[in-house]
Amino acid sequence: MRTAILASGRGSNLQALIKACASGSLPIEIVAVGSEQLGAAALERAKEAGIPTRVFQVRDYPHRQAQEEDLLIWMRENQVELLLLAGYMRVLGPQFIRQANFPVMNIHPSLLPAFPGLHAQRQALEYGVKVSGCTVHLVDEGLDSGPIILQEAVSVLPGDTEESLAQRILEVEHRLYPEAVRRLVLGKVERTGRRVQILLQEGLE
Ligand code: GAR
Repeated sequence: MRTAILASGRGSNLQALIKACASGSLPIEIVAVGSEQLGAAALERAKEAGIPTRVFQVRDYPHRQAQEEDLLIWMRENQVELLLLAGYMRVLGPQFIRQANFPVMNIHPSLLPAFPGLHAQRQALEYGVKVSGCTVHLVDEGLDSGPIILQEAVSVLPGDTEESLAQRILEVEHRLYPEAVRRLVLGKVERTGRRVQILLQEGLE
């Protein structure tokens, strides 16, 4: 399945997806990696893996919609069938989502619907939850509000800082995201309202 990835920063999730593809456990072809950040480390990781990259800096466009129109053109040119957001720190507008004729997935570092938006780990610590985690979901027109595909819990420990919690969640993310994508690609997705069930060969998940 021809897949594009958008990433804004470090790109460790991108790296985990590239690694899963290379090992043969994830049957997608990453055909393009994009970022709105010129110097994003994610772009370097993509280049090292031989994947074409492109930058869509917001300041190069008169308004947000123009940037997203360009993103869509680039995806059509690349015949993209699946879009993965991997630490992409901009919200894709409703017009983009409506016009995208392929699934869009995202990974978020909390157990949604708790702590959507920026700084999810900081929000979890400030709230005082004992358990947080990460969520892979389909992207809809809201903020981190789309139907959930997989979630996994991570304990919040007494001495945790934003960084230590983020790091422990990240380790789970690197396993959960490729697994969620694998299920979506190999499975038969059944959606009833917000509820997503993926029927794999090995049975009902
Ligand atoms: C990850 O923790 C991801 O879940 C989060 O940004 C980090 C990116 O790390 N995404 C969001 O917060 C999206 N709202 P990475 O660049 O190393 O993959």
